Amino acid sequence: MAFQFLWVLVFTVLLAFGKANSILSEVCNPDDLQGLTSFKSGISYDNSGRLEKWAGLSCCQWEGISCDNTTGRVTQINLPGFITQEGLVLQTQMQGSLSPSLTLLSSLQVLDIGGQFGLSGSIPTSIGQSLPNLQKLILYSNILTGPIPESIGKLSKLEELALHENHLSGSIPPSLGGLKNLKRLFLHTNNFSGVIPGGVTKLTNLVQLDLHANSLSGNIPEKIGDLQTLKELDLSENLLGGNIPNSISNLTSISVMYLDQNSLEGPIPFPSSPGQLPLLGFLRLQNNHLTGKIPPTFGNLVSMERLSLENNKLEGEIPSSFGDLSSLSELYLHGNQLSGQIPESIGQLSKLIMLTLSNNLIEGPLPPQMSSLQNIQTLDLSFNSLKLFSIPKWIAELPFLSRLYLAGCRIEGKIPEFLQNTPSPIQELDLSSNNLTGSMPTWLGKLSRLYSLNLSRNSLDSEIPDSISNLKYLGVLDLHSNNLSGSIRRVLEMGSYLTYIDLSNNNFLSGIEEIADSEEDFEIRFLNLSNNLLQGKLPNSIGRFKSLQSLDLSSNRLSFGLPDAIASLSSLNTLKLQKNRFTGEIPDGFLELRKLKELDLSDNLLVGEIPKGKPLSDFPATSYKGNKGLCGKPLKPCM
Ligand SMILES: *[C@@H]1O[C@H](CO)[C@@H](O)[C@H](O)[C@H]1NC(C)=O
Ligand SMILES: *[C@@H]1O[C@H](CO)[C@@H](O)[C@H](O)[C@H]1NC(C)=O
Ligand SMILES: *[C@@H]1O[C@H](CO)[C@@H](O)[C@H](O)[C@H]1NC(C)=O
Ligand SMILES: *[C@@H]1O[C@H](CO)[C@@H](O)[C@H](O)[C@H]1NC(C)=O
Ligand SMILES: *[C@@H]1O[C@H](CO)[C@@H](O)[C@H](O)[C@H]1NC(C)=O
Ligand SMILES: *[C@@H]1O[C@H](CO)[C@@H](O)[C@H](O)[C@H]1NC(C)=O
Ligand SMILES: *[C@@H]1O[C@H](CO)[C@@H](O)[C@H](O)[C@H]1NC(C)=O
Repeated sequence: MAFQFLWVLVFTVLLAFGKANSILSEVCNPDDLQGLTSFKSGISYDNSGRLEKWAGLSCCQWEGISCDNTTGRVTQINLPGFITQEGLVLQTQMQGSLSPSLTLLSSLQVLDIGGQFGLSGSIPTSIGQSLPNLQKLILYSNILTGPIPESIGKLSKLEELALHENHLSGSIPPSLGGLKNLKRLFLHTNNFSGVIPGGVTKLTNLVQLDLHANSLSGNIPEKIGDLQTLKELDLSENLLGGNIPNSISNLTSISVMYLDQNSLEGPIPFPSSPGQLPLLGFLRLQNNHLTGKIPPTFGNLVSMERLSLENNKLEGEIPSSFGDLSSLSELYLHGNQLSGQIPESIGQLSKLIMLTLSNNLIEGPLPPQMSSLQNIQTLDLSFNSLKLFSIPKWIAELPFLSRLYLAGCRIEGKIPEFLQNTPSPIQELDLSSNNLTGSMPTWLGKLSRLYSLNLSRNSLDSEIPDSISNLKYLGVLDLHSNNLSGSIRRVLEMGSYLTYIDLSNNNFLSGIEEIADSEEDFEIRFLNLSNNLLQGKLPNSIGRFKSLQSLDLSSNRLSFGLPDAIASLSSLNTLKLQKNRFTGEIPDGFLELRKLKELDLSDNLLVGEIPKGKPLSDFPATSYKGNKGLCGKPLKPCM
């Protein structure tokens, strides 16, 4: 008996399944079929192979299509720009134009053709009337143009609108404010202009709002604080002005807020009382025109992890309540007008990894409590009113410090030896614009992880120690404006990481004439040796610096002819050889320097006709003046 009952049950289930299956395998709705067929014919390229398999009349069984199992209508087009195969996610690409006939699919709930990079066309004007059931419209990372149609406001079931990373333009339609169910609105990285419609603040279910990298202007909507469920707000990289609305304090769910790179003015109005913005962890307000003091109440933002306030006009002291931000790992305050001393409480920030205070008006001395910053990796105190006179020893004892910027801190005397024994290897060291004297120490060669060294604008007066060749990872070397002398050969023959060398304004005598030919890769892009005492010949081996973009050898005593090999420096955009004693003619090969934007050959002993043609003829006469006998365009014709 029991067995029989079970059998009947199984049979019924099979029957039901079979029936549903047969609906699906039937010819699909003619409107859906026509819409999908037009969509497919608009696509000229699809490397995922999905569309290729769309054949026959049973469109509900096509890959990426889902239908309602009772009405048989298409409800979903899921063709995201990636496919998952054996646990791997593979990027795919589709090229072609988005067919307006997609609006025939009147039961559509999900349209996801995002991340294809190659879909052009625009969003169908009638989308609001035609697809009233749409819940997700996902078209990001394509090349769509045109505006968002006003009719979008009719899509009352819409929960996600992801149109970011396209070439869409026009203003954001105010009708968007009617989309009561919208949770995610992504319009970033397009070319939208006009104001942010106030109606956006009526989207009371919104969780993510990202409008960054457009050309939006006007103010941030006054009632933005009404978005009680909003967790992520990104309005950065626009043209927004005016004050930050007071209502921002009311965003109780907010965790990420990026308003940076706009023209916002006035004071930071939040938090106005304790307990506000309890979840705010990531705040960026940098690169605006904010004024006034940093609110002393900032210490109430207990979830703060990354805080960027740099490049504004903030003034006053750094609030001592910052010490309460116990989760803070990155703090950027550089480029303001902050004054006073660094508060002692800063020593409580045990998770702090990054602290930038450069270009403010902060005074010394540094609080000894800073030695408690046990996790700090980057410390930038450059260009303040610190007057340190010497580098405090505790700085060199911070266990994780690897990037130290102390430019313009009035440090005097020799480069302190304790810098060679830091617990973490130093990667970036900037002691420029100080009053350092004595020599460049040999122990610098022991800083085996050094990537960037800036000792420019001091009074160092030695040769460059040979040990510099040990710095295998050195990428940036700036020693300009010192009193260094001797040969620069070791620097020029250093490994392939070195991309930036500035040795200008010193007393270097030799080295350039000795560079050997080499098959090795040299990645130097910027080389400035101007204002030295370099003499002799510029060798053809200069041609091995194939990546050079800027070469400045001006104001030296270089002589003999200009090497033909300069013609092979095809990335060169700046070439300054003025004020030397170069002789002979300008090699014809200079005509191959297609990228050259700046040329100065003035005040040498060059003769003959300037090679005819671009780019040489485009430079002003001043680029060639003061030579012995140059002629031809742009100078006077040759006799
Ligand atoms: C039809 O679809 C609904 C949800 O879309 C599902 O719950 C139901 O089990 C399906 N019915 C059949 C017979 O497949
Ligand atoms: C963006 O739109 C402006 C007009 O609002 C136009 O001048 C500009 O060329 C557009 N930029 C791009 C990259 O389409
Ligand atoms: C914050 O919200 C409260 C309660 O919803 C409201 O009374 C107040 O006016 C709001 N503040 C601002 C500045 O909008
Ligand atoms: C080195 O520091 C000086 C200021 O002291 C600055 O002007 C220069 O750009 C820095 N060099 C590099 C490569 O950043
Ligand atoms: C110290 O260096 C600064 C910046 O380079 C300079 O303005 C100042 O005159 C120097 N002071 C002394 C005493 O050399
Ligand atoms: C630089 O060194 C030379 C000697 O090599 C010395 O005569 C000169 O006074 C020094 N200049 C400075 C500014 O220290
Ligand atoms: C090279 O250095 C000199 C002196 O420091 C400076 O005036 C010049 O602008 C620099 N050249 C380039 C191309 O940056």
